[in-house]
Formats: sequence, C-alpha cells, structure tokens
Amino acid sequence: MLLALVLAGGSPAPGQTPAAPPACGERQDVGRPAPDLHCLPLLPTPAAPEARGVVRLEPALSPFGVAVDPAGVPRWSLSLEATGLPAPGELGPYRTWVAWATTPLFAPVLRLGEVGNGTWALGPVALDKFVILVTPEATPVADAPAGTPVLRGTSPSMALQPHELPALLGMAVGGAEGGDGHRHGGPSGDGWTPPPMHAATTMVPGMHAARPDVAPWLPPWRPDEVPEARPREVVTLADGDSLALTAMPVRKTIGGRALVLLGFNGQIPGPLLVVPEAATVQVRFTNRIDRPTTVHWHGIRLDNRFDGVPFVTQDPVPPGGSFLYRVRFPDPGIYWYHPHHREDVAQDLGLYGNIMVRSEVGYGPADREEVLVLDDLLVGDAGLFPWGREAATHALMGRFGNLALVNGEPDWRLEVGPGSLVRFLLTDAANARAFNLSFGAPTKVVASDLGRFEREEIVESVAIAPAERYVVDVRYDAPGTYPIVNRVRGVDMVTGGIFAEVDTLGVVEVTGDLPPGRHAASFEPLRQPAGVAAEMERFRGFADRPVDRELVLTVRADSLPFPLGMLLRLERAFFPPAEWTGSMPAMNWATTARQVRWILEDPATGSQNMEIDWRFRVGDVVRIRLTNSREAFHAMQHPIHLHGQRFLVVARNGVPSDNLAWKDTAVVPAGQTADLLVEMSNPGRWMLHCHVAEHLEAGMHTVITVE
Ligand code: C2O
Ligand code: CU
Ligand code: CU
Repeated sequence: MLLALVLAGGSPAPGQTPAAPPACGERQDVGRPAPDLHCLPLLPTPAAPEARGVVRLEPALSPFGVAVDPAGVPRWSLSLEATGLPAPGELGPYRTWVAWATTPLFAPVLRLGEVGNGTWALGPVALDKFVILVTPEATPVADAPAGTPVLRGTSPSMALQPHELPALLGMAVGGAEGGDGHRHGGPSGDGWTPPPMHAATTMVPGMHAARPDVAPWLPPWRPDEVPEARPREVVTLADGDSLALTAMPVRKTIGGRALVLLGFNGQIPGPLLVVPEAATVQVRFTNRIDRPTTVHWHGIRLDNRFDGVPFVTQDPVPPGGSFLYRVRFPDPGIYWYHPHHREDVAQDLGLYGNIMVRSEVGYGPADREEVLVLDDLLVGDAGLFPWGREAATHALMGRFGNLALVNGEPDWRLEVGPGSLVRFLLTDAANARAFNLSFGAPTKVVASDLGRFEREEIVESVAIAPAERYVVDVRYDAPGTYPIVNRVRGVDMVTGGIFAEVDTLGVVEVTGDLPPGRHAASFEPLRQPAGVAAEMERFRGFADRPVDRELVLTVRADSLPFPLGMLLRLERAFFPPAEWTGSMPAMNWATTARQVRWILEDPATGSQNMEIDWRFRVGDVVRIRLTNSREAFHAMQHPIHLHGQRFLVVARNGVPSDNLAWKDTAVVPAGQTADLLVEMSNPGRWMLHCHVAEHLEAGMHTVITVE
C-alpha cells in the first residue's frame, strides 16, 4: 500500500495554532458531503489533554464513480487537522508527530505521514474499519509507533455494531415463526415464497413473515411454447439501413433448468448493432411480449421523439403493436438499448442489447474486441424468482440477483493466444448491482459512456454501476487461466460485520494452441487523445462556474410495515459509499414501489420528481450538483442518468476530477456530492432518473426541457 508523505500547502508554521479546534460538523447540508461519513474526530489521551483534531476522508481520485481497491474496500484520501499538540520533546526523546492508520485489531499498522498543528494531507488508505493514531516519534519515517498516542479516532464504518435490538424486534413481530432465523419458508397463502437469503449474512429473525403488498408475477409461457434463445448476432448497419427488432419470449437453459426469459429477435443479449459515427438507421420495433413496452436508446443524442420514454415521448407499444424508431448516432462509443416500461421486469428478463458506434479515429489496435453485458438474475429453488405484478418489489435497494451473467451466460469463456491485447467494452445491465471487476492481468481504462478519457489510466479493478459503460484494454501475456472476478464488500446488518463477496463471472483462457497476439505492445502507451484533450480544456473553463441547479437524492417511506421501518431506522448509524450486494434480501424484497418513494428534490423550490420543471436552451452549459442525502432513513448509491445529452463529472465532494470522459450516467455514492457539467445540446423533453430499475419505478425521475 502506498503511503505518501505529503505536506499540504499553507500549513501553519510549527508552534502556530489556528484559533478554534477543528470539528467535523453535525448534519449534512445540501450541496455538501455527509460529515459523519467523511470526517472523524480525534480525541486526546491524557498524554496531551489540550490536543484536538479531525481526519477528513475524500474519495480517492478514480476514473470510476466509486473509489475502491480491487477487493471492493473504499479508498479514501485522508487529511488531518490538529491543534494544541505540544512540542514532541515534552513527551520524551521525540522530534516530531506521526499519524498512523490501523485496523481494530492493530494489524497491520500503516504510517500515514508526519503531522503537527495545522492541516496535513496524508496518503490514501483502503481499510474496512480503521483506527487513526497520532504519536510522538524520533523520526518522521518510523516503521512502527514508538511513542504513546496523543490523539486517536475511529473510522465512520466503526459505527457498524452488532444489533441485539433488530433480532428482538423481529422475534416480537414474527411471533411463533420468529425464532428460526435461517428458514427459507415454504409457499405462503398469498403465493409468495421468500427469496433465497445471502449466504454470508445473518437473517433477521421474523423477517420471513414479511410479504410484499403486490401479487407475484412470472412470464406466462411454458418453456416448450417458446423458441430456444440464440446467441447474440452482430448486425453491421450503414447510414440509411433498416432493422427489424422484436421483443419476444425465449427459452434458456441455465444450470440445467429451462427458464422462460425475454429477448430481442430471440437473442440474449439482443443483436449487437455496429454503426458508423453520424449514421441514421430505422428500427421497426414489434412487441411480441404480454405487456406494453418501448425501446430506449441509452446514451444516444437522438431525436427526442424516438427516445422511447412512455408518456413523455411516445405511448407504450401494446402487445402485438409496433413503432418505427429513426435513430441517429452522433457520438462514437458503446451504447445500449432496453425497454423503458416496467424495466424492473422486462430488462431483467433479458431485453437489452448493445450498439457500437465506430469512428474513423479509433482506439489503439487490439487483437480482440469483446462487447460484454454484465447482469444478474434472481433464481430460487423453483426457478425464476417472481416479480411484483402491480408494482416493483425490492423498492428499497433494488433487485439484486444471485446468479451473475455475462452476455446471458453464467460461465462465459474466451480463448486467446499469448501476448494478446483484448479490449472489453463493458455495460452493466443489472437492475441494481454494481460490479468491481478484476481481470488478473494488466488493465487500463480507455473510455466510458460517450467516448474516451483525457488520458488512458492503469487500474487494478473496474467499478461499474447500472447503465454505465467502460472500455478497458487487458494484456494477456503468458498462457494460463485468467478468471474475471467481481470482488466487493457487503454489510451484515445484524452482526455489524463487513464481509467479502467474490464471484467469478467468466474465464479467459490464454493458450499456446492459438497463434500469439500481435498487439500486446499497444498496451504500453497511456494515450492522451489530442481531440479529447482540446475539448475537455474548453469545458474545464466552465468547471469553475458556480452551481446552477441542485438536486437532493433521498427517500420517503411512510407506509412500511413494522418491523421493517423500525429495523431500517436502526441501520442508520453508518452507510457504506455503495451497496454492492443484496445483504438484506427478505427485508428489501418485501418493500414495494407502493410503499417506498425515492426522490429527486430541487432544494431551491422544494419540488420533487415530476413536479420539477427545469428549462434550458440549446447551447447552455449547466453545472448541476447532486447531493445524496444520508439524512434519509436509508442511503445508498444512485446511478443518475440523463437522456439525450452528455455531461462531465467535474467534481466529487467538491474535489475536481483529474481525468474526464463524456458520460450519460454517473453514480453518486451514499452521503456524497457529484457535480455534473451538462452540455445542453439536444432539444426536447428528456428524462433524468436513477438507473436502479426499482428506484425508477419508485418515482425517482424527472423531465427537463431543452428548447
Ligand atoms: Cu437506460 Cu432512462 O435509461
Ligand atoms: Cu441496506
Ligand atoms: Cu437510485
């Protein structure tokens, strides 16, 4: 682990003390990160009773929306502010102060750097729960603390403690069934069977008595009534070409069980459309499923009337109906299409496909290009776990699946020759799940939603949230087996523990049986594409402009059944930056879009969701600050998507980004802020919403007008 020794600019001279002792602040203000999740007070020990301090946590700079290490542990960049430290010599044979980070078990102990009175920038740390110590030392480069600590504090995550109370409450409410925390339950009178629980967590006793207030729904076809799903086809289109696209039921055998899913043109994922930049194509869409639907062309700056948003740009296409989309592709990049009506059901069942918009000036050369859609499916003992008929279930955290799929397959594989450069174009099509992928080989990120980064950057893992895209180059040198692994952290609410979740999504086999790759050397240069740099320079000029508009991301739930509401209120002591997995499956499942209202609120007017009526003009460049409120009874990350435009994430928690790419979806971690610089370039009425499908269903959307 890198522990830089950096002295912040403008530190007071030794001995000089700022007036008031530093403090973290109480509540989260609009436009500011949550203080209790991003600051920890340092308390004095008897060795130096006058000393005071705080440590501030900023998400480490990252090309991704959530800064984590390859194991999924949040990566923070720390700074320390202290007052009242005496001369170190007063405590013994010491010359300076050193700050340390360690775990609650005091192993390992990491030196953060030299500190003193004033403000000091320290290195990044990635620890689940940690303790900060300040000790007097003979040398600023001591290997281990020698002096007695004078200041100490604990990370915000240390607020996670085992709860006796949820268990007691749950048992009180669960009644006779209450004591059996691990029973999955048999079929209940209302047709629901509780979801499979998370293997790593403790189920709250009594929670299996909870049921959603909607009826279960499953695809109505028998497997033998529908065609077998076909693998995705690549459809290369030229300007003016047309394509027929049909949403239909398909049969797919996964884990030896025939499931009825939905596919475009009988394929999961749907056809991969490869089009040249600036082309326009016609898509005749036909709805052969049992519910109304539309097709949305995610990330594409197309004509508003073809955006596929029901009741905003078109009426939903009824079963048996059709609609003609004319789609133009102004920006090179990787995009996707999916339904926009009850997408918690339709997209989850397999209705998604990619579009690759090629440009003349492409990336560096690669031996292979692999377009991968990441997804997850929730399956139980009886097959697909049902969806809510009248409204979405899992409205609190979104529907996390328990079976990860790459291009619709639970065991995706690729074989390449040694020395190959493989370019992965990744899309997260899951309802709620974000992934943190490692490839086990050198990896660099080159592009995101609507184009390339200012500079290619070496990464240890790729953190991707629903609807985001990242393009990464991976260099496979020697023969061997290279699994693609999702490594994340989860929180067990009952024990207060943080656990690791590790899941292999697929495998790349590098074999001498295939001819060696020719482009491994293309990995080396970290390119800084000239056109991108020039464009970003132009927009960086706007990055200093004051915030034009703000939105607060929050949630209300007034009708949650007891004990759900009670339990969730107990869970509020700490929220991790991101919920990577469904660690509270029963509680989450039982909340529906009828009970939970996720909210985008304009703090300037108090209007919420569809009441907000923002208007802009083509050519405006608008700075929008999103504040993810931890004051809500449940806080988690939201991947916020704006249709029909493109934006830059110019700052997070007020810290400017150092590597920009055009985006249409940006994740805002719990308690954090994100500043979007939106180029209003495309007239129309455009939806802005959270891309967790269940949050969208639970109201978390608005429409902006660009004229
Ligand atoms: Cu992927 Cu409203 O979109
Ligand atoms: Cu939670
Ligand atoms: Cu959300």
